[in-house]
Amino acid sequence: MAFVDLKTATDLLKSEQVVALPTETVYGLAGRIDSESALKKIFEVKKRPFFDPLIVHLSTEMSAKNWTTQWPSIYDLLAKKFWPGPLTLIAPKNNSVSDLITSGLTEVALRCPNHPLIQSVLKDLGIPLAAPSANLFGKTSPTEAKHVEAEFEGRVPVLDGGPCAYGLESTVVRFDSIANTLEVLRPGWVSIKDLEGVVGTLGISVLRAESKVSPGHLKHHYQPNSPLALIFSQVDSSPLDPIEIESIQEKLSLPKRATQRLNLNSPPEQVARRLYSDLRRLSLTKEDLILAELPLDAKNDPDWTMIIDRLEKASSLVVLR
Ligand code: TXA
Ligand code: MG
Repeated sequence: MAFVDLKTATDLLKSEQVVALPTETVYGLAGRIDSESALKKIFEVKKRPFFDPLIVHLSTEMSAKNWTTQWPSIYDLLAKKFWPGPLTLIAPKNNSVSDLITSGLTEVALRCPNHPLIQSVLKDLGIPLAAPSANLFGKTSPTEAKHVEAEFEGRVPVLDGGPCAYGLESTVVRFDSIANTLEVLRPGWVSIKDLEGVVGTLGISVLRAESKVSPGHLKHHYQPNSPLALIFSQVDSSPLDPIEIESIQEKLSLPKRATQRLNLNSPPEQVARRLYSDLRRLSLTKEDLILAELPLDAKNDPDWTMIIDRLEKASSLVVLR
């Protein structure tokens, strides 16, 4: 049952099953938002705790206002600019949105994805789809259909839409009407600068929120099967030497053997696109070590923000040298 065509995927969703669908960011494990059994199945298949809320996906023809009690006017501006696309907007939910989706929170996350296949499914269904990334909880998100198949060992039907164009999850934002700020709960392709371009002239500042604001954003997330060490080097550091690598292996209780290196020597947009597929490819066994080395300066470079966010959560150890 692994790979299914568009019609089968839509029929399965209609009959309240879950199906992995392509989006432009990562593959999502989708279920219709009006089916309690489909929503429960999403959590069960992913082994996801119920405290981690789901994003609701809309077609370009659906209105987010059907699912919310308030829709700030700046969301209209943001949706006009970035939807369909990799931006998720959080707003107060109405009673039609199940507490299962929001983990009991009063707000719901909404996004209109930009992939023709999920758009086609949504239009046919006429009902939004809840879809977290189609991976086991805490693990690396899938950016190709074969990743989903491997992750769930063929137990989940997958609609193959090719490799995801962006490769990292959407930017998640929330408007705080009291503070008059737009908070970025999860950085992504829509950057703080992009957001400022839309709301800056309205006197609204865009801030990176503390990670605790977003439930489910635990310290460890996106983890590959092999442990990852993230190394930040100061400008004048010499290259990482074998003794330093052995010390990392010791700290992680790993055997001293050859390591894998994540290639981060490309422009950030290219690195972002292949980050998750590279992490999967380099994850040979639980005893292998993957090294990700970056100059410390990258931390202050907005183009690297989304990548460093994922690497910090995916890593078992962060070293500053
Ligand atoms: O690009 C994406 O957003 C992908 C594709 C499939 O659309 N989806 C995705 O879903 O990354 P997921 O479940 O892996 O991550 C969604 C995150 C949650 O971990 C949670 O932190 C945040 O969005 N979120 C969802 N609903 C929220 C809410 N009501 N309040 C605050 N954060 C919320
Ligand atoms: Mg996820």
